[in-house]
Amino acid sequence: MEVKEAIKNRRSIRKYQDKDISDDLINELLEAARLAPSSHNAQPWKFIVVKDKEMKEKLKENNVFKHQFVFEASMIIACCADPDLSVKPSELIFSDADMQGKAGRDLAFASQNLVLRATELGLGTCYIGIVDRKKIKEILNIPEKYLLPYVIIAGYPAEEPRPTPRRGIDEISKID
Ligand SMILES: Cc1cc2nc3c(=O)[nH]c(=O)nc-3n(C[C@H](O)[C@H](O)[C@H](O)COP(=O)(O)O)c2cc1C
Repeated sequence: MEVKEAIKNRRSIRKYQDKDISDDLINELLEAARLAPSSHNAQPWKFIVVKDKEMKEKLKENNVFKHQFVFEASMIIACCADPDLSVKPSELIFSDADMQGKAGRDLAFASQNLVLRATELGLGTCYIGIVDRKKIKEILNIPEKYLLPYVIIAGYPAEEPRPTPRRGIDEISKID
């Protein structure tokens, strides 16, 4: 599949087959994330894969997610970034918020690599931003300092959603 096709075919998938993703495929996804660019090559991302049924049940019992379809997916990937790994070029212009912005930005590049590779491999994904960050960090033993802007759920799709609307090139290429 060409990159163009993966970009075009990707959809947010909210219905999944009851079928596990093999460890080899999981590795392919993480490899795609690993190769992403990052500011100063800091690679501040961490992808914590949850596929274990007991752990998923624990997240469910603790109401970590609002959407129940999250638990239909074969796996939940907690997408995290460590702002301390991002490189601070100048003490003067880079605040803590700037460092968090940098780490979050780099995480997004790696995440989208993962999502597009998943599309190429016939998997469905959905970013999930509605997540109780405090609880998920506690349950997965993720230190507080990590950003956790979203999780990505992934599995074999059980739906083929239509494309959602996008603003036109005219609109996104100028500021009125
Ligand atoms: C960072 C981020 C967070 C999102 N959070 C949620 C979410 O919590 N629940 C949900 O159903 N979809 C979520 N989405 C999916 C968006 O709604 C979806 O990408 C958008 O409507 C465009 O549809 P498409 O992905 O099928 O092209 C999220 C997407 C992104 C990028």
